[in-house]
Amino acid sequence: MSAVRGHAISYRGDPFFDDDAFVDVEDALIISEGGVITAFGPYDEVKGQLPDGVEVTHHPDALICAGFIDTHIHYVQTGIIGAFGSQLIDWLNHYTFIEEQRFADKAHADAVAKIYFDQLLANGTTTAVTFCAMYPSSVDAFFEESERRGTRMVGGKVMMDRNAPDALLDTATSSYEDSKALIAKWHDRGRNQYAITPRFAPTSTPEQLEAAGVLWKESPGTFVHTHVSENTGEIAWVKSLFPERAGYLDVYDHFGLLGRRSVLAHGVHLTARERGRVHETGSAVSHCPTSNLFLGSGLFHIHDAKDPKRPMHVGLGTDIGAGTSFSILQTMNEAYKVAELNVYPMNSIKTFYLATLGGAEALDLADKIGSLEVGKEADFVVLDPKATPLLAYRSERAESTEELMFVLSIMADDRAVAATYVAGKPAYLRPSAQNGAM
Ligand code: GUN
Ligand code: ZN
Repeated sequence: MSAVRGHAISYRGDPFFDDDAFVDVEDALIISEGGVITAFGPYDEVKGQLPDGVEVTHHPDALICAGFIDTHIHYVQTGIIGAFGSQLIDWLNHYTFIEEQRFADKAHADAVAKIYFDQLLANGTTTAVTFCAMYPSSVDAFFEESERRGTRMVGGKVMMDRNAPDALLDTATSSYEDSKALIAKWHDRGRNQYAITPRFAPTSTPEQLEAAGVLWKESPGTFVHTHVSENTGEIAWVKSLFPERAGYLDVYDHFGLLGRRSVLAHGVHLTARERGRVHETGSAVSHCPTSNLFLGSGLFHIHDAKDPKRPMHVGLGTDIGAGTSFSILQTMNEAYKVAELNVYPMNSIKTFYLATLGGAEALDLADKIGSLEVGKEADFVVLDPKATPLLAYRSERAESTEELMFVLSIMADDRAVAATYVAGKPAYLRPSAQNGAM
């Protein structure tokens, strides 16, 4: 059992559509037992539920929210963040496909998985939908580390049977069999869940996409995780590879890869008709602004994505290593700026939603994670608005919780993560916070 006290924010709905969605509790108490929140609310109202002898960890100057959810990231690209000079396809060929070959070595995968989880937790990210490499052992390395940390994670083996170096290719049959075996081994083991992961349409034959669709049907509760409509050259390539399909999204639709728990990274250039289809199928789009800017892919239109006539489920993704930061706060910063470039002022109530409950809704996991609510898993992050002298100076002037959140979303990063709780226990404590400074 654990108890944490401080200023907490949460959501009871989607602030893109519901003005009453935001929850702001200036002095809150969060009690959890067995990894699940058993009480949450104003300290004065909830403290009576504290059993004798349970010590309260008080963060008087902090802002506490549900753990951040990264809806699209590649752990095997941790070592190539900031690779110079290319847009998507060149970047894949020159950097990514070289780097991912190193994950044939399980010891290397183990070492990078450890660095990756250290980074996630130091950034307040408690759930990440993760691309591994094509090697099944790279998936073992990922889930083994997740199991050690007790995190709720989603991941899978990349399926890729054309248009990449031979060393990275599987076949339609082997990718089906390897993925099936990994599902049997890891899906719903503890908090881990499996995503069937065809990399993107250009690196899969129709036979492989068909196998992925069949496997998804056979494997209830699993996810599909892929990329769509990130870059205009990529879209033209998909048209030439699948001329019989109506467009990029239709390739996935045709093979049964759209639906609830299908997570599509980017979707920068989806057409209105395609967005309608994402909406109808309940699929989700992962908005990855740091990546879209870094690779010059384009500007995601959040206002189109959240069109009340056909809203898509949207979460935020870092897309490491095309993305440039593990920080979901920095991802909010860039999401705000991308929205500004489209003349849509996205407030901090909305960006924090995308980073927490919006991500959970996108993943169909809102019954488990994404907000501070009795019955949900006790994953949360303690943010320090005084983490740096400048942040302290600026935060001091904030006149509302919304303004404080906005300042954090624009200026903060991992330095402002004082603690990350996973299943009710501190899984990360910022070094200066270890003796109770925060
Ligand atoms: N499209 C296909 N593979 C990738 C990848 O590894 N990163 C990004 N950003 N886009 C992709
Ligand atoms: Zn990606």
